[in-house]
Amino acid sequence: MECDFLVIGSGIAGLSLALRVARLGSVVIITKKKEVDTATNLAQGGIAAVLSQSDSQENHIRDTLISGAGLCHEDVVRLVVEKGADRVRDLIALGVDFVKNSKDSSELDLGQEGGHSRRRVAHAHDFTGKEIERALLARVKRQTNIRILENHRAIDLLMVNTDKEGCRTQRCAGAYVLNEDLKVEAFSAKITILCTGGAGKVYLYTSNPDIATGDGMAMAFRAGAVMANMEFIQFHPTCLYHPKAKNFLISEAVRGEGGILVDQDGRPFMEKYDGRKDLATRDAVARAIDTEMKVTGADCVFLDITHKDKEFVKKRFPTIYARCLSYGIDITTELIPVVPAAHYSCGGVETDTWGRTSIKGLLALGETACTGLHGGNRLASNSLLEAVVFAERASAYCADHWQELSSKTVPKVEQWRSGEAQSLNEEILIHHNWDLIRRIMWNYVGIVRNMKRLRLAKKQIEGIYQEIEQHYRDYFVSPNMIELRNIALISMLIIQSALQRKESRGLHFLIDHPETRKECANDTRFRKKNGGMLAEIEMC
Ligand code: SIN
Repeated sequence: MECDFLVIGSGIAGLSLALRVARLGSVVIITKKKEVDTATNLAQGGIAAVLSQSDSQENHIRDTLISGAGLCHEDVVRLVVEKGADRVRDLIALGVDFVKNSKDSSELDLGQEGGHSRRRVAHAHDFTGKEIERALLARVKRQTNIRILENHRAIDLLMVNTDKEGCRTQRCAGAYVLNEDLKVEAFSAKITILCTGGAGKVYLYTSNPDIATGDGMAMAFRAGAVMANMEFIQFHPTCLYHPKAKNFLISEAVRGEGGILVDQDGRPFMEKYDGRKDLATRDAVARAIDTEMKVTGADCVFLDITHKDKEFVKKRFPTIYARCLSYGIDITTELIPVVPAAHYSCGGVETDTWGRTSIKGLLALGETACTGLHGGNRLASNSLLEAVVFAERASAYCADHWQELSSKTVPKVEQWRSGEAQSLNEEILIHHNWDLIRRIMWNYVGIVRNMKRLRLAKKQIEGIYQEIEQHYRDYFVSPNMIELRNIALISMLIIQSALQRKESRGLHFLIDHPETRKECANDTRFRKKNGGMLAEIEMC
């Protein structure tokens, strides 16, 4: 399989990029399940941008910087905010139907979320991501130059040696892919773009879809890319707490419309923790809930929106209303039981402002990337924004350099060799470790951390990781094995990054070092240690 652009992942970042580069060359999008099985498709809240007269770019920049706890790259924040409104207008031009202002239909209805000082979140009720995914997929399907292949999983990047001015370097030339017949194929490409989303499945409880196993991050690390800020895992404060609900988010927009967090006796508690109360940034709200639950011993806290007009709630939050009702909770009259859950990886594969990673021929976009926008805590609804701004930047880079990029011949690549591998006929070897890793991460590397638990987690997951790498060598690769190998590696990277940061900042709260230290206001940058163990890192 040969193409000009190999896009791995079919969420907002991958589809936006594909649509923009299709005029330059052939595009293949691979996606490991169905095309809509993406984190984008589950996004409820919306996309933040400066879209009203009562807002300003300086406001949005300030809110993003405050939320990022001193680690945002201000140049990147300015760039994203300045381009934001245009990119939202591009989405509208592509057919995304954002809700209009009921009083003036030439304006958008703008929602509010934690950490925002103004209403600036464009939304499609509470199914914004689904609406964006629908519109982008419809466009992609009209393009003859783009192919989408479902049930195709990237295993590893395909790296080739290049000699430039006597210097031996490596460049990415595509990926090895497990196809729908479970055969490994080499996909070669001039440019490979990682848009595989985040790694929420590393944790036992997450708002993420099943695909979120950090595949792009893990492949990039194994190929030698520079990674950054993996310790900053955002826990969404309010996921539905119900035995039958899997990964169901109660959007922050519910608090934006007046929802209040209360304890089991119905008492509001946020004021005790933060002057911004229920609209504090996510790190603060998630930590407050975690403390409440630990102090009271309760299994969950509650979100109360019952004081708002019934019809308004049903219309503004149709998905949440219907889903909760299906579990017997009428949110217009009853409290919603909620708990925090892993939601977003603020770190990832380090990129520059064109989406380029440290590896030639390899770009990374969306949650897979660490662009410098989010710092130590992403501001709500800045992620869809980052994806569309950087998709445009990356495509502009490809267009500007297309002559040089396209002159590269698609290299001859080595076919995959299975060696002496055998069939794994005991899935329990995979399932057991999946469960173990996710529990260790939840219990030892969660919202509030300490050095002792981090070290224990490292020791335990290291052993599991070595066992998985052995399985990977001994048995034919399978979808579950690929994901397990990736979550084990990403867990190791999160833990090792967390151990490096001896302070508390943003989403990383360390009991041993509760203070924020000026001298630690740097990204945690690292790559795979040369000649080291598989998951061993060296700081950059
Ligand atoms: C939400 O709707 O609360 C999620 C939005 C986001 O993660 O930015």
